[in-house]
Amino acid sequence: MDVDRNVNRGGRPRVLVPIEWRDDVEAVRIIDQTLLPEELRYVDVVTVDQMCEAISKLRVRGAPAIGVAGALGVYLGMRGHEGDSAEAFARALEDVCQRVSSVRPTAVNLSWAVGRVQAAAKREMASGDAYAKAGARAAILDEALAIMDEDRRCCELIGLHGAELIPDGARVLTHCNAGALATAGIGTALAPIYVRHSQGARLKVWADETRPLLQGARLTAYELSQAGIDVTVICDNMAASLMAAGKVDLVIVGADRVAANGDVCNKIGTYGLACAAWVHQIPFYVACPTSTLDLSIRRGEDIPIEERGQEEVACGLGRRTVPEGVAIYNPAFDVTPARMVTAIITERGIARPPYGRGLARLMQSEDGSAGKTH
Ligand code: MRU
Repeated sequence: MDVDRNVNRGGRPRVLVPIEWRDDVEAVRIIDQTLLPEELRYVDVVTVDQMCEAISKLRVRGAPAIGVAGALGVYLGMRGHEGDSAEAFARALEDVCQRVSSVRPTAVNLSWAVGRVQAAAKREMASGDAYAKAGARAAILDEALAIMDEDRRCCELIGLHGAELIPDGARVLTHCNAGALATAGIGTALAPIYVRHSQGARLKVWADETRPLLQGARLTAYELSQAGIDVTVICDNMAASLMAAGKVDLVIVGADRVAANGDVCNKIGTYGLACAAWVHQIPFYVACPTSTLDLSIRRGEDIPIEERGQEEVACGLGRRTVPEGVAIYNPAFDVTPARMVTAIITERGIARPPYGRGLARLMQSEDGSAGKTH
């Protein structure tokens, strides 16, 4: 991996851009999020293998961001295939798309974005002329950049819609990182917080540490503190007692996939948080773009849950914390039943129960089409 040496240690970047396309070097520049908060390092990804590794290792992470990364990864993977026969090009495209979309199975944004660039390439190939392969590769890049732009805009709109749900003075609890570092814009769950902060609201954010990989402590705390927002990190097992003590006004989290009935799949620990919020009658909001809705899946229990390596639990804190030889189970996501979700905030508006009808209507809105499918 070609590493940019322009490393910023402890500086205050104005905007965190976790992923961008660099035309000058024909590379995808990402922030290596595994190094945060100690080091803000930008890395240039130039091959599809590097991109698959970066997504798999969570150097680039968060549902919308891995969608963008996957789409750009397909473009990298098709480099050098323009000279292939049409059949070989089509086979290579199929293979690259298959490889990229299977790196992480839970966030639907990855397979959705890969499907979009694949469809764009196929449309171009259908013309069958001599330049179709070069055109197909260009179409992949155009579509990937369009997905990135759309996500940026989605984040802004989610922020504006969600801001209406956050009163001045609110104490907001969030889990994992669903902020700028997880998207091409200002985030999903954190977007309403950024918008309210920019409107002058006084907010306090509780950031769940988010075991095992500490995205809340390492990433949410990093980006919110960089932005001058009052953020306090707590261990995951402290959330319920904070709620019992009346210190939390609302919970807002992101999502990796939302089923047609409104069941929400998100970072492991989200369900426990929802249970605690339910008991304490605290609003539990989910913020995500409509690209995270998967109406082809009826209920949350049908969503594939990624299981990750044992070392993340055994050695996640930089030293071994589980005895050698002891079994470890590490599901990366869980499902929160729709009945525990107060509202789902998207770029097209806010859905409230019953979600079946509300989500279907959101998918059909804006362009009046029959809605998206995955
Ligand atoms: O494993 P991660 O760090 O990719 O998990 C991220 C989450 O669970 C986020 O909450 C979700 O992807 C929404 S990001 C806007």
